[in-house]
Amino acid sequence: MRAVIAEGSGGPEILKVVERPVPQPKEGEILVRVRFAGVNRPDVIQRQGGYPPPPGAPDILGLEIAGEVVGSDPNANRFKAGDTVMALVAGGGYADYAVVHESNALPVPEGLSLEEAGAVPETYFTVWTNVFERGALKPGETLLVHGGSSGIGTTAIQLAEAFGAKVIATAGSPEKCEACLRLGADVAVNYREQDFVAAVKEATDGRGADVILDMVGGDYIPRNHEAAAQDGRIVQIAFLKGSKVEVDFRRLMLKRLTHTGSTLRSRSAAEKAVIAEALEAKVLPLLAEGRCKPVMDSTFALEDVAQAHARMDGGEHIGKIVLRL
Ligand SMILES: NC(=O)c1ccc[n+]([C@@H]2O[C@H](COP(=O)([O-])OP(=O)(O)OC[C@H]3O[C@@H](n4cnc5c(N)ncnc54)[C@H](OP(=O)(O)O)[C@@H]3O)[C@@H](O)[C@H]2O)c1
Repeated sequence: MRAVIAEGSGGPEILKVVERPVPQPKEGEILVRVRFAGVNRPDVIQRQGGYPPPPGAPDILGLEIAGEVVGSDPNANRFKAGDTVMALVAGGGYADYAVVHESNALPVPEGLSLEEAGAVPETYFTVWTNVFERGALKPGETLLVHGGSSGIGTTAIQLAEAFGAKVIATAGSPEKCEACLRLGADVAVNYREQDFVAAVKEATDGRGADVILDMVGGDYIPRNHEAAAQDGRIVQIAFLKGSKVEVDFRRLMLKRLTHTGSTLRSRSAAEKAVIAEALEAKVLPLLAEGRCKPVMDSTFALEDVAQAHARMDGGEHIGKIVLRL
């Protein structure tokens, strides 16, 4: 089968399409003929050498897939051959075939194309577990989401809006801010022109945001503490501006803040299955009704994987980039 690996670390040009054997399903796993694979920022960071695959994961890139079930381990009985699924994988997504534990796959709801389904798992699992589980966002509360036009951000805006929260998004251009507003954000802040702390205070009558989803880090860490409401929860999912900062923790104590974070990829299949169950119960109906939909930026053929990564490197995209296999 065709598969994409990174030869060393560096720019998109180090991505190579190579031949690999089709993987065989192990205990509880299904074999999927991949039709679309999502491209995510963690793939770019892996290509650059900053995010090695966890032990046991293949060196083939790719964290999410959509396609048809073509085989399974005898102990996997959730899906049958021919079913269409979308699944979270710890690696191996950019390939004609991938194996995944059946509990980490979800049926593709009617109304969602396979192309869109390939853009769902990574951001929906991440947003669910970080915003709704760790951050415990409730209806009527305010979510501040940084990187509002990113794959993660566009998902967070739609889900928070669907569950009755007020949403403030930050983004780096007027076009990206417009996209956030179209998706349901109540306020969009162009962080290059406006101080997001002041904007959050203004939008919340001085109260601040109840939950903050942050992928930026760096100087955003103390500023998030400032932008948070009393008893606010800040959930860290990446550090695009760095993870080492000097912070005065008095604000955290005085406002009774919770500052937490998590990564998805290194978690066990059993832990991911718990998130999948919640998504199936609470979010698949929204996708089926069309109340949420992945925002599709662009689709590239597998052979053009370097162009797909270059598009993400350039940072002009809004929403999701996917590969067609
Ligand atoms: N912890 C986890 O489990 C987990 C899982 C998946 C993804 N992630 C992380 O989540 C982030 C988003 O992933 P994605 O796939 O959605 O990527 P993406 O679409 O490329 O989004 C990255 C976003 O970061 C923003 N950004 C970059 N540098 C910034 C800066 N200096 N200041 C403010 N904003 C900045 C960009 O917005 P502007 O263009 O507006 O600046 C862009 O929208 C990545 O960092 C990824 O590693 C974490």
